[in-house]
Amino acid sequence: MRSIAVINQKGGVGKTTITANLGHALALAGRRVTLVDLDPQGHLSASLGIFKPPARGIADLMQGDAKDLDGLAIHSRERLTLIPAGKGLSEIGELREGAADRAYLLRRCLQEHLRDQDFLLLDCPPSAGLLMANAVLGADEALIPVTGDYLGLNGLAQLMLTLKKFQRFRERPLRPWIQLSRFQTRRRLAREVERKLLDHFPGRVLPHPIQEAAVLAECPGVGRSIFEYRPRSRAAAEFKALAQDLIEEHTR
Ligand SMILES: Nc1ncnc2c1ncn2[C@@H]1O[C@H](COP(=O)(O)OP(=O)(O)O)[C@@H](O)[C@H]1O
Ligand SMILES: [Mg+2]
Repeated sequence: MRSIAVINQKGGVGKTTITANLGHALALAGRRVTLVDLDPQGHLSASLGIFKPPARGIADLMQGDAKDLDGLAIHSRERLTLIPAGKGLSEIGELREGAADRAYLLRRCLQEHLRDQDFLLLDCPPSAGLLMANAVLGADEALIPVTGDYLGLNGLAQLMLTLKKFQRFRERPLRPWIQLSRFQTRRRLAREVERKLLDHFPGRVLPHPIQEAAVLAECPGVGRSIFEYRPRSRAAAEFKALAQDLIEEHTR
């Protein structure tokens, strides 16, 4: 199983949009996929049509209140499973004590119970806090959405430093993938940021940007993925390409 934390401490860059739509794209490509909503706001669950968040979720696993995923996992689509946040998740994000234990519990449980899965995607909250740390220590790869502006570039530099600090707690290096998100092809600045990313992170930038598209912003409101809402849109084609790039580990 490939485990991928979708991270960026900046909010609104498209983490949840990418987790939901990439997750569905991978499932439609025949892979068995589990998505974990690690953001107490529960936006991932809502994006997939679960507007009333269940009380139990990944929080219960991390606190040791649930021993396995029975009763936590929700069958969301064919080959697509969702583990919601759970009520206690916001508190876990603030508890310093036992953080290392929780990261370990998360990693061990997910590795143990998701052996039959091909992909695990962890949708992280917009902060570089403990939940993100848990996800990064629980996963082998990181998918980092970056917007095409200077603040996005600046935030990425900070994030890379944070990831470096985590490295000493890991056995193997975390493999980062950079994904251009909410990209505006016609903007000169966006293309400049793209060029800088390619210069600074050779071999880590995924080749197909997800462009800014109104249909993508409309999807969460109806609780559907882009493949259900507008299957013939450019955005759907972009997510299909992203899934294939990630499967083949194809970068620029
Ligand atoms: N490529 C895109 N085009 C248009 N709107 C987008 C795109 N990606 C995300 N959005 C919208 O921007 C907002 C923030 O996206 P979201 O995925 O929730 O970001 P994050 O999880 O990083 O905070 C949401 O309203 C979402 O629908
Ligand atoms: Mg989000």
